[in-house]
Order: sequence, then structure tokens, then C-alpha cells
Amino acid sequence: MSRDRSDDSPGEQRLRRKKTKPAGRRRLETLVGANPEDISDPVVRHLSEQGYVDEVLAELKSGKEATAYIANGPSGLMLLKVYRDLEARSFKNDGLYREGEVIMDDRARRSMKNRSAKGLSLLQFDWVMREYAGLWKLWNAGLNVPEPLVGPDPTIYAETVPAVLMRLIGTEDEPAPRLSEARLSPEEAQSAWDQALAGMADMLRLGYVHGDYSTYNLLWWENTVIIIDFPQLTTRQNPNFSDLLRRDAESLSTSFRKQGIQVPGEDTLREVQRRALGPAPTPRVTLP
Ligand SMILES: Nc1ncnc2c1ncn2[C@@H]1O[C@H](COP(=O)(O)OP(=O)(O)OP(=O)(O)O)[C@@H](O)[C@H]1O
Ligand SMILES: [Mg+2]
Repeated sequence: MSRDRSDDSPGEQRLRRKKTKPAGRRRLETLVGANPEDISDPVVRHLSEQGYVDEVLAELKSGKEATAYIANGPSGLMLLKVYRDLEARSFKNDGLYREGEVIMDDRARRSMKNRSAKGLSLLQFDWVMREYAGLWKLWNAGLNVPEPLVGPDPTIYAETVPAVLMRLIGTEDEPAPRLSEARLSPEEAQSAWDQALAGMADMLRLGYVHGDYSTYNLLWWENTVIIIDFPQLTTRQNPNFSDLLRRDAESLSTSFRKQGIQVPGEDTLREVQRRALGPAPTPRVTLP
């Protein structure tokens, strides 16, 4: 018979949860601490001291540019995306997404171009600010994106650099899979494809191209496609806009082949453009 554990202290409950963590998701002892001063990671310590993060529960994924953690904060479970140290960042093709933008400050422009220490730090800052700005823009427009948890005032979300705080899609024990790894029935795959097209068309209608649109940046939860990863979100003032749109259509098509959807990139592009001319944005699904 199992005993009633509802009276256990939060610490005991936490310890128990630790033991039942699914394999492959590392518990981050160094990041978790009852007192902010015990947390060794400077970014998490700073966020904890500022009151944005109460506890980091698990590392979800460590990628090229950022590490994603599951964390608890004042507004519940969140996804904490911490951009990597400046030295480890490639800022690959950064200029492509930045073209057409005006940087007023001459010195800032030069340092970013030369990748000096100051320039890298500015790029880092800008990358995070872009991700927040994109999230807010699309969230406010009603698209299926994770709810940003800091802002909408940029001076407020600047406080969390080099991290972006957003609502976790899924649960602590079962975060939403990416469409690249989700196991879908043919009907589900068709629905996911349709939603992915709708999402791309919604962005285009608002004047944006995602810049890295594929099943690797689409989550699947409760039969709903949720778009993530926005630092490359690009506006029409960028001379590369059409090329990026075409490239996104291609990568969406290519990445969906694994799900059994065979649509040439050219057709995807045409369909997205056709849908973008329609008036109504897809209303956001309220996730539980
Ligand atoms: N809001 C979220 N809810 C649940 N999982 C998320 C959320 N945002 C991101 N993730 C997970 O974290 C991973 C990394 O996020 P993201 O794609 O934004 O970063 P990235 O810089 O592209 O990292 P990578 O190089 O690993 O793709 C995603 O692939 C996804 O599995
Ligand atoms: Mg990504």
C-alpha cells in the first residue's frame, strides 16, 4: 500500500520527483539551489535573484546556439532558453537576417561587424531581444507560439539577457516533442502539415518570414502545431526576404517528407502565398 505523501515537505516531494525523472533528462544539481547564492551558473543565479526563476528542474536540450531548461517561476512551468557563451556562438549568417536594418550608432555597427568583444556582446543582446520581440509580436497577433513570460516592454525583457523565458509547451515529465521526432498517424501528419502551412501564411500576412522554418522548430502538442525559435524572424525591409521565404518553404517541405507528406517546395511556397492573401489569421488554440 502506498502512503499518503501529500504532507511531505516541498524538499521531500522534490527529491521524490528527482528519482522518477525519465532517463536522458539530466537533473542539474549545479543549477538548482534553495538559496540564490548556492547556484553556480551565473545566468540562472541572476534570474533567480531577480525573481524570474524559482527552480531549474531539468535540462531539455543543448543545441548549437542555446540550452533549453525546464524551470519553475512565478507564472508556473517555463522553458528557459539560455543562449550560449559568446565565444561558443557562431552567429552564422547573422548578416543575412540583419540586412536592410539601420544601426544608428557608428561605433556599434563597426564593433558588430568586426566581432570584437563589445560587438559580440551587442550581437548576443540583440539576438535575445529579437527572439522576445518576435514572440510578443506573434503571440499578440494570436498565433500558436509559446507565451513570452517577460515583457512586453523591451526594457523589462532586456533584464533576462542572455535568456528568454517562455511558457513550457507540454508538461515537466513530457515536454512537447518537435515534429521532427513526433510519431504521427497519416491523419495527424496531414493536420500538422496544414497547420504548419497556416502558421507560415499567418506570419507572411503580418509581414514576416521565420528564417528557420522546419519540423525542427515546430512542436506538436494536443494535436496542435506550435512554432518556436524566432531570433531569425525577418521583415520585408530585408532585401533577402523573398529568398528566405523560398528557403523556408523548401525546408518545410523537405523536413515533412519524414512524416509522409510529399509536397515540392515550389508548391508549398505558392500555397503559403495564396493563404497569406486571405483575411483571417488562424485563431490561437488555448492549450491546457
Ligand atoms: N516553449 C517550449 N516548450 C517546450 N519545448 C521547447 C520550447 N521552446 C523550445 N523547446 C525545446 O527546446 C529546443 C531548443 O529550442 P530552440 O529551437 O528555440 O533553440 P535552438 O537555438 O534552435 O536550439 P537547437 O540548436 O537545439 O535547435 C527545441 O528544439 C525544443 O525541443
Ligand atoms: Mg531550434
